[in-house]
Amino acid sequence: MNRLFTGSFTNVIKRIPALYFNKQKSFVRKSTTASSISSNIDSVKDLSRPLPPYLYNDPSVYQLERENIFAKNWMYIGRLDRLKKLGDYLSITLAGYPIFIYRSPLTNELVAFHNVCSHRAGPIVPINSNNYGTALYGNQSLLKCQYHAWLFDSRDGALKATPNFSYKFKSDEKKCLSLKKINIEIFAEQFIFVNLIEMKEKSSIYTLFSDLLNDILAFPLNEYRHFESQCHLINCNWKTYAENYQEGYHIQSIHPLLNKTIQSKQYLVTNKNNIYSVHYAPSRNHESGQEKFLWVFIYPNLAINLYEQGYSIEHILPIGKDRTILSYDFFVRSTDDESQMSDRMAEAKEAMIRTLEVTNEDKMICEQVQNNLDAGIYKPGYLSPSMENGVQFFQNRIRNELKHTNLQLE
Ligand code: FES
Ligand SMILES: [Fe+2]
Repeated sequence: MNRLFTGSFTNVIKRIPALYFNKQKSFVRKSTTASSISSNIDSVKDLSRPLPPYLYNDPSVYQLERENIFAKNWMYIGRLDRLKKLGDYLSITLAGYPIFIYRSPLTNELVAFHNVCSHRAGPIVPINSNNYGTALYGNQSLLKCQYHAWLFDSRDGALKATPNFSYKFKSDEKKCLSLKKINIEIFAEQFIFVNLIEMKEKSSIYTLFSDLLNDILAFPLNEYRHFESQCHLINCNWKTYAENYQEGYHIQSIHPLLNKTIQSKQYLVTNKNNIYSVHYAPSRNHESGQEKFLWVFIYPNLAINLYEQGYSIEHILPIGKDRTILSYDFFVRSTDDESQMSDRMAEAKEAMIRTLEVTNEDKMICEQVQNNLDAGIYKPGYLSPSMENGVQFFQNRIRNELKHTNLQLE
């Protein structure tokens, strides 16, 4: 078992053909013609082109992505196994949206709200501010704001009390002072997803990920035990890292050790239902046989790397236009046999260390690519139809979700 978790990082970076100088680095709208004219002159009809570089560094683009991608898609947020007791919460800041999940002591149900008080925007549950707002699990018996102690109903977020406020809100005034509720669904009885925007016709994640469910349930999810969480700051746009994950083209160049364990030339990405991508690469070690595994990237920012003996979650969390947190959770399959468990734990930790080595290699290349995207030199090249089809799927989704904005997307 020498590949546990390492597949999670079989990612890639596109080469950067520095052919043209492109001054158009700031917010580009469709009406801007200079760069689009030059980009069409040499287009190869049969190949897709990567996204223009300003999409990776313009603050206005990031704001549009927050509203049109992160607020509108089902987003992974955390795990059910950490929210078993009444009053348990998970607080996380997702692309700048502070939100929390709470197990209501009144109903034993999970509820989700924006972590923003209606009084003067204080947080209702603590925010992991020292760690960029990444996942923070805890327990709180009441939904009481951290700032001036306004109290909210844990069933529906209604305002219940405003201590020492010197004014008693009437019931219709209270209505617009409720916490803002968020949609929540649990996938595969474990993975919690939220959707921030109220929409009339929202597809359930079970509809969207229906094919994936059987593949995931082929693994013994209930037997895995969490053993480590880590956060890594990567100084690049979130898409730079996600695209790197979405291809195995770079493995030969960037991950020499990983390349010794998998046949990277046969790396295969299969895009499914326009929602997720399944990654596959045969092992180089034929004697060990092919361990069952599932590497999956769920648009826009989640990767799950499942093996029979453990799994890892990679949560790609943007914290600005050019900074991204890579948040890891590592799990090992548990057993009552103590000596077997200690062997599994040792293997899992070893695999985690290899994963982190691969992460460092990815961090280095992604940050260099980001610098080059920012340099004003790069003009989009081309995507390999076989090796970068995962990137193409990802970028098509981005284009589709931003197409009603005024952004130039080609
Ligand atoms: S901001 Fe919440 S009580 Fe004041
Ligand atoms: Fe990689």
